[in-house]
Amino acid sequence: AVELSLRPRYLAEYIGQNQIKENLKIYIEAAKMRNEALDHVLLYGPPGLGKTTLANIIANELGVNLRTTSGPAIERPGDLAALLTNLQEGDVLFIDEIHRLHRTVEEVLYPAMEDFALDIMIGKGPSARSVRLDLPPFTLIGATTRAGLLSAPLRDRFGVVSRLEFYTVEELSYIVSRGADIFGIDIIGDAADEIALRSRGTPRIANRLLKRVRDFAQVRGDGHITSDIAKDALQMLQVDPMGLDLIDHKMLRAMITNFRGGPVGLDTIAATIGEESQTIEDVYEPYLLQIGYLQRTPRGRVVTPAAYQHLGLPIPADS
Ligand code: ADE
Repeated sequence: AVELSLRPRYLAEYIGQNQIKENLKIYIEAAKMRNEALDHVLLYGPPGLGKTTLANIIANELGVNLRTTSGPAIERPGDLAALLTNLQEGDVLFIDEIHRLHRTVEEVLYPAMEDFALDIMIGKGPSARSVRLDLPPFTLIGATTRAGLLSAPLRDRFGVVSRLEFYTVEELSYIVSRGADIFGIDIIGDAADEIALRSRGTPRIANRLLKRVRDFAQVRGDGHITSDIAKDALQMLQVDPMGLDLIDHKMLRAMITNFRGGPVGLDTIAATIGEESQTIEDVYEPYLLQIGYLQRTPRGRVVTPAAYQHLGLPIPADS
């Protein structure tokens, strides 16, 4: 229950993503004034930045039901038809990982999004015909780690397209303090900053680190989170001062040791360190790019001098 309550339920409690928040506030109010369903919303950006949280908030703010599913969970067109026909007027259907929808399912979604209609084929062969079923007006919220993975026809059917950005340290520090408040534990401002600094711009990571630091404070300290407690706990978690973990280190070191810092292809990096290419691209790489430790070039990924410096390695003369 505490897990769930860390998630803000209304826009007013949601920290960060200010541009998106301001825009959504207006679109939501306008839709409510007109007594219409909100336009379809596409949320994209790295994992853990609050796409699911925002979908929940939008439904709460609209005062409608939220149905949640994910791209891979909808196996056949009939599964989607079942979801759509169970919606009430104005409801929100949230599809996480929408880039992983089957093509056949995606085709059912087009008329549903555009005309609130479901085209059903009846019969087979020459006597087959299509029947159009009306759906209640609804809002589709799609979430994906990369909008580039969506087909153009699907992307074009969203009226609102928002890219979530990494959070600032200040925003994350607020989120950590808010979390500590919800847990009913004391945290020094500096300790909240320390956790925030190592959360790679990501609230989900900030909240996870807070929980581990809280454990440490209870067992090793008196329950209060001081800066020293936070630093010791974070060191034990093997999260370095920039928030990089063992996999980031393994990846950067492999690129430096085996490929002279690059350029090296994503699949080669993945094979070298035994991770999925997709995981590296969606989870690890975006933050390393953001902090300027990695660059993408047409010939592959390149480690930057800043990363060498962070790892305490000599910067090669030709970089
Ligand atoms: N917890 C996780 N994400 C949050 C956010 N954006 N604002 C407040 N609390 C959060």
